[in-house]
Amino acid sequence: MSDTTQYFLEQSRLPRQWYNIMADFPEPMAPVLHPGTRQPVAPSDLAPLFPDTLIAQEMTAERYVEIPAAVLDIYKMWRPSPLIRARRLEKALDTPARIYFKYEGVSPAGSHKPNTAVAQAYYNAEAGTRRLTTETGAGQWGSSLAFAGSLFGLEVQVFQVKVSYQQKPYRQALMRTYGAECIPSPSNLTNAGRAILAENPDHPGSLGIAISEAVELAAQADDTKYALGSVLNHVMLHQSIIGQEALLQMEMAGDDPDILIGCTGGGSNFAGLVFPFLGEQLRGGRSRRILAVEPAACPTLTQGRFAYDFGDTAHLTPLTKMHTLGSSFTPPGFHAGGLRYHGMGPQVSHALQLGLIEARAYAQTGCFEAAVQFARHEGIVPAPECSHAVKAAIDEALRCKEEGQGQTILFNLSGHGHFDMQAYIDFFDGKLEDREYDAAAAEVALAQLPQLG
Ligand SMILES: Cc1ncc(COP(=O)(O)O)c(C=O)c1O
Repeated sequence: MSDTTQYFLEQSRLPRQWYNIMADFPEPMAPVLHPGTRQPVAPSDLAPLFPDTLIAQEMTAERYVEIPAAVLDIYKMWRPSPLIRARRLEKALDTPARIYFKYEGVSPAGSHKPNTAVAQAYYNAEAGTRRLTTETGAGQWGSSLAFAGSLFGLEVQVFQVKVSYQQKPYRQALMRTYGAECIPSPSNLTNAGRAILAENPDHPGSLGIAISEAVELAAQADDTKYALGSVLNHVMLHQSIIGQEALLQMEMAGDDPDILIGCTGGGSNFAGLVFPFLGEQLRGGRSRRILAVEPAACPTLTQGRFAYDFGDTAHLTPLTKMHTLGSSFTPPGFHAGGLRYHGMGPQVSHALQLGLIEARAYAQTGCFEAAVQFARHEGIVPAPECSHAVKAAIDEALRCKEEGQGQTILFNLSGHGHFDMQAYIDFFDGKLEDREYDAAAAEVALAQLPQLG
């Protein structure tokens, strides 16, 4: 038996196209609605926020979209990312399961987020955008867009959720290193931020609020556009590079996953890994178990409602049909900042509605235990977000052991945790709390869902 641990794909085999699940869904998705008219949005409705090419990608049903040469050139700074077999972890768990992970922490910003940041910066630069605004939770997305903006000469302004801004000072430093401005949200720079601060000057912030601030500024200036790091269809499209590489690498390994796992904040690293595999299944190929893992304190897929909702707190975005806890729901300040979002990507939500994927929620302490166990055998310190995927992979491997089943597990290790070491310190010092899901607060937020005719 081979003892290979890393499956490196030659750069010459880097996929040249992104994959679009829209082409293969057995049922169409519900249309995106205009927040005022409640009618399906037209491309022109989105033009204040996004360049035309990204709007076209948001709406296309083409199965494959060509990756521009300039984007491929930048991808080659770290792609293809390695597929790694976690042999030492397997041994420690004494499991007959084979555990593989796709490691996205090798990107300059340390996560999967540059896969779409580079594409979005490219299309914006091509369209003459001067400045991009965005939100960030843990800071992974903000630093990715800052990196991409620096390559294309774009100004980048990042609204970072205040609780994460305070918890993760080195992410701010990284954003500034790449030339971006980083502002704690809610801020006094926008109407949305000022309204929240007037009610609660100590508001910890949320991704929904930070999105409102970034969208508000972008909508006000012709040379400024908005970039979103997850949720939207074009983001899932760009992230498909992960799963397409993984398909080739699993072939190199002579193996095939029975179970695919990813953590879900807005759904982009999960979709990026699993949609190319799911697409094969929907075109008549093999079916596999696909598991989305979310935080128990913000359980959008397992407890949320599938309904039309706003993507942000101030209700500036279009309405999308998705799993949601309500746009005014503020998740508690747990450490996986990138998973603190009230909604879920519409494509991931649609896949769950169709029964194509499963969802599971974990509390943070168990995820940190799994992350530490992983680090002690595989060396890589996971970002708190993807510690959820690590925990699910370990649980599935232990189930295989109990059942005596030699299944193949593939999960997305979406980023490293080198900027999240305060979270690890809190864990080691016994200061991490398992924050309960506030069902009553979500009920209040869900009662405010937009009423549609
Ligand atoms: C490393 C990492 N993984 C996962 C996520 C969650 O986002 P998504 O669900 O879009 O992959 C984030 C978000 O910031 C992240 O930084």
